[in-house]
This record gives sequence, structure tokens and C-alpha cells, in this order.
Amino acid sequence: VPMIRSYHQKVLDHYQKPRNVGTLDKTDINVGTGLVGAPACGDVMRLQIRVDENGKISEAKFKTFGCGSAIASSSYLTELVQGMSLDDAGRIKNTVIAKELSLPPVKLHCSMLAEDAIKSAINDYQSKRLKAGKAPTLGP
Ligand code: FES
Ligand code: FES
Repeated sequence: VPMIRSYHQKVLDHYQKPRNVGTLDKTDINVGTGLVGAPACGDVMRLQIRVDENGKISEAKFKTFGCGSAIASSSYLTELVQGMSLDDAGRIKNTVIAKELSLPPVKLHCSMLAEDAIKSAINDYQSKRLKAGKAPTLGP
């Protein structure tokens, strides 16, 4: 496929060998699940994080039903957030992902899916903690 050749090598690497594909137990109080869709194309990304007692992300898993750039964006994101505080992870901008993977402009929304997914996972984690009567874990 000629179009594929124009893609940066880092995208291809994450697309061909995606990191951290999988599922965490979403009933676990330490796990947050984000599920988001891209209005532009209907692709869907599920991102899950496990948060340790210090408010840092100790594990991240994803499943993405979408294009190669969305898969690569989520794969890269799961590596990026390892060890991050929730505050820092919540501030990740899609442009950081797009830059790292050298995504072309038409694929910017694919990295936006990853930004939305981490925010959604953090919100889910925090609201689960609140419902369970536990204080949200705030990162240092
Ligand atoms: Fe959905 Fe990219 S348009 S796969
Ligand atoms: Fe829609 Fe990539 S997420 S084309």
C-alpha cells in the first residue's frame, strides 16, 4: 500500500507491535476505564489505567477498534503514562502524541482519541472512588 510508506517509522512500529494491548478488571477500585469514540470516523478506543496508592499510574492497557494511527496513538500513550501522576496524565495533549508519531494532519483526530481516552479513564477512576466513599487519589 503506497500510502503506508509515507508514514513515519514510529507509527508503523507501534501499529505492527502494539504495546499493552489488553484488559484490566474494570470492577477493581484501582482501575479506571475510558471508552471514547471519534465522531469523524466512528473509531472506538478503550483505555484502562491502574493507579497505585501514591496516585501514579502503574499499568495501562488498551483496545482500539480503529485505524493504524489510532492504534499507534493508544499504544504510545500506554507507554507514556506509566509512572505518571494522574494530574500529569490528564494534561497530555494530543499534539504531543501526534508529534512523537509524526502523524499527518488528516490523522490528528486519531491522536485526539488517545487524549480523550486518558481523560475519560481518569474521570472514571475518580468517580468510582467517590462513589465508593474513598477520597480520589491525587498525584503529588
Ligand atoms: Fe475509521 Fe480511520 S476512518 S479507521
Ligand atoms: Fe479515525 Fe484514525 S481514529 S481515522
